[in-house]
Amino acid sequence: MSRPRVPERILRAADELDLAGDERVLELGCGRGVAAELLLARHPGLRYLAVDRSAAAVAAAAARNAAAIAQGRLRTLCCPLEELGPDVAPEGPFDVVFAINVHLFWTTTATAVAQSLADLMRPGARLWLFFEGPSGAGRAAAPALRSLDVPDLSAEADEDGPLTIVRATKRAA
Ligand SMILES: C[S@@+](CC[C@H](N)C(=O)[O-])C[C@H]1O[C@@H](n2cnc3c(N)ncnc32)[C@H](O)[C@@H]1O
Repeated sequence: MSRPRVPERILRAADELDLAGDERVLELGCGRGVAAELLLARHPGLRYLAVDRSAAAVAAAAARNAAAIAQGRLRTLCCPLEELGPDVAPEGPFDVVFAINVHLFWTTTATAVAQSLADLMRPGARLWLFFEGPSGAGRAAAPALRSLDVPDLSAEADEDGPLTIVRATKRAA
């Protein structure tokens, strides 16, 4: 049976990430692992951790990406973002962290989560938050910018088009 096409938000986000292909990547709220599948197909050299609090989502992501897991390129983790700690980065800090349509950052002021994510990133690493609504319209960036308003991150937003994009850089120590 053929798989449904990759949603536009995920294609756009994958392009925006502009990966070189050798990064350590942390995906937040990976859902069924569609972005992981796309990015690992494009960039076989990535080392990728896909996290979601939903056991069903993680199981689906693992099944979809079983080959990448077997090859040691992908790990999946069932965990709330609020509980991520240094143990999730045994191979060293992440170069790229991203989330697509993870409401936490847009509907709450998730500064505690943002700071714990910054602690998992190397200086200069990028954190991306993407949001596209069901009708195609994005969300105003202000709430996500408030979530990323922590001392270790410098954030900016792009509200053009249907996808709202907030990106932050981990400041040098
Ligand atoms: C709307 S879905 C988006 C899934 C995927 N990123 C996509 O764009 O298709 C949001 C996902 O984030 C997960 N999620 C939401 N809040 C979370 C949290 N606090 N910790 C971990 N996962 C969370 C949900 O379980 C869900 O799988």
